[in-house]
Amino acid sequence: MMFIRSFVFFLGVLAAFALGWIGIVGVPDMMLARIEAPPELKRYTAEQLYGRSIYVREGCLYCHSQQVRPEGFGADQARFWGRPSVPADYLYDKPHLLGTMRTGPDLFNIGARQTSEEWHLLHLYNPRLVTKGSIMPPHPWLFEEKPTAGPGEEALVLPDSLAPARKVVVPTAEAKALVAYLLSLNHTYPVSQGAASDDTAKTRR
Ligand code: HEC
Repeated sequence: MMFIRSFVFFLGVLAAFALGWIGIVGVPDMMLARIEAPPELKRYTAEQLYGRSIYVREGCLYCHSQQVRPEGFGADQARFWGRPSVPADYLYDKPHLLGTMRTGPDLFNIGARQTSEEWHLLHLYNPRLVTKGSIMPPHPWLFEEKPTAGPGEEALVLPDSLAPARKVVVPTAEAKALVAYLLSLNHTYPVSQGAASDDTAKTRR
């Protein structure tokens, strides 16, 4: 008798875990399996992927999200441009960097909003150079101070008050790759209704 009870208990526990697994892993996996990349979504280049790894290393994710929410969830489309993001937009993102915090603006379409490489480099070196009163931390370790710029290098154009004495500030390969990644973040292309998640489809109706 005792044995049968234990066995039934064991089966119950097994069923509870199996149901949880199906609901949390199995069903979403099936729902996302048929998603195809939108024709205009480009794969990252090697440099952009390198920049993406710097984005992860520097923890940009802790202040910046990468998702435009559907209407009814705030003024995302007016503030951050584009349409609500869909699962297909993230097909080449491993790991995805959706983020949950918005201490700074969403960056899903920053490559469309701010297209200047020079602006991005200045902003990373010292955000207050281009955004008055910015609270974003500066990232000077992505830059090098040198007596002069080497061949193929371009020094930042800094105001005298911030330029180091008798030296120039040159972006490192890390800074350049990070900016290449930021400029690639442009998801303003159209997607078909089929690519939209059930949620987005519902709010659009
Ligand atoms: C402590 C929070 C914080 C961190 C960490 C942070 N940022 Fe920011 N970021 C902000 C804030 C706040 C703003 C808005 C003010 C400004 O433009 O500087 C901003 C603005 C930006 C903008 C301009 C957005 C726009 O719409 O104009 C870009 C691009 C950006 N950040 C990129 C980055 C990158 C890349 C990293 C990682 C290297 C990073 N940020 C790390 C807080 C942060």
